[in-house]
Amino acid sequence: MAKPKGTTAERVTVVGAGYVGLVTAASLADLGHQVISMDIDSERIGRLQDGDIPIFEPGLAELVEKNRPRLTFTDDPTVAYADSEFIYICVDTPPTHSGDADLSRVWNVVDNLPPQDGERILVIKSTVPVGTGAVIRNELNRRGYEHIHYSSNPEFLREGTALQDFMRPDRIVVGADDPTVARKVASLYDAIETELVLTNVASAEMIKYASNAFLATKISFINEIANVCEATGADVTTVAHGMGLDPRIGPHFLQAGIGYGGSCFPKDVSALKQLAGNSGYHFQLLTAVIEVNELQKRRVIGKIKEALGEDLHDRRIALLGLAFKPNTDDIREASAIVLAGRLLAEGARVVAYDPVAIPNTRAVLPAVEYADSALQALEGAEACVLVTEWPEFIHLDWERAADLMQKPLVVDGRNALDPDTLRRLGFRYEGVGRKP
Ligand code: UGA
Repeated sequence: MAKPKGTTAERVTVVGAGYVGLVTAASLADLGHQVISMDIDSERIGRLQDGDIPIFEPGLAELVEKNRPRLTFTDDPTVAYADSEFIYICVDTPPTHSGDADLSRVWNVVDNLPPQDGERILVIKSTVPVGTGAVIRNELNRRGYEHIHYSSNPEFLREGTALQDFMRPDRIVVGADDPTVARKVASLYDAIETELVLTNVASAEMIKYASNAFLATKISFINEIANVCEATGADVTTVAHGMGLDPRIGPHFLQAGIGYGGSCFPKDVSALKQLAGNSGYHFQLLTAVIEVNELQKRRVIGKIKEALGEDLHDRRIALLGLAFKPNTDDIREASAIVLAGRLLAEGARVVAYDPVAIPNTRAVLPAVEYADSALQALEGAEACVLVTEWPEFIHLDWERAADLMQKPLVVDGRNALDPDTLRRLGFRYEGVGRKP
């Protein structure tokens, strides 16, 4: 999408060439801005300069290539900060052991900002606890960095659809305590038609956490409904459809399964719970959301045992999918990791296949056997768990799969397969909250 004529192309530095940083840098360049992507990881920057994109995100490599004239990469802060009015912070804020967000990388950027040489706007996209902006503002003032303005511009990108989420967002949220700064940041997105929420920094920070926590709550809620459906003969897919027709509920994020994963929901829900606790408020609901999600991953083992008996020792179990969701190679907090670990602990032989996430998983789970294809993973297996709903699993030759497996048992952790078809092919099919 090119910037409409008449609007100025701004100079932007995006610090952090990870997932959010790269998508932000490439998309801002595509909007017509002049962008420098900066990362302290020189190897990563070298790869990017050579056109090698270190993450899997559909369309990103093409977008980077298309915007080469407006998008450069550097590991040198002097080059990165030389000329830009906007400095985006897109670094990781991983969880600490206590569930707080680790802000060390954010502070690292703040500590290395350019000295007084003109006005700049610091735009933080990294997810940070509510109140962080105020702390950073105070610290900047204490250091005499009044020339650096501060703004919170949370991202709502989903892995796998990040580029379209950036260009066609449901809303753009910009928080700044000075409305002129908020409007300046918002003007970078002039070419995007959407609802604009201009607010203060604390509210912008909270919108991000509250949104992710609410979505995670929806998932844990429908998962609990699914568990009750299993006990009562109702079918959660029909129940979710019936519920979702009420516009106050809506049809999205009501897919029951084996729990949410990824780099955002688990981290942000814990961080919000922790933030509330630190402020003296016990967020009861989020404690349950987290617990339900953990238990949900483990229920699969119960289903396998119900079919194969208690002893899983030496039983060959196939996992289809390792990524926390399709269209990504991200295995952070993926249900597959917990599941594989539990099965291995029970003595099972776990064989897994994923179209893109095997290299990442191999590094954390070397005891798993990795197959070259879904059918190869199923060969001789006594049970198959569909963990990630990649289209190639949905369209698999399940007739052939039935022949290859030692026992045709499918535990569909995402309710992505058609139970009737599988049963017709001779499978025992177990979904999540679906009629037996
Ligand atoms: C999530 C949010 O959806 C984004 O809006 C947000 O910007 C992002 O976190 C972030 O904070 O950076 P993402 O983690 O990429 O995005 O993935 P989602 O598509 O939201 O899925 C998260 C998990 O929930 C997956 O494991 C998925 O399988 C699971 N899920 C999702 C369900 O179990 N049921 C559903 O109905 C929907």
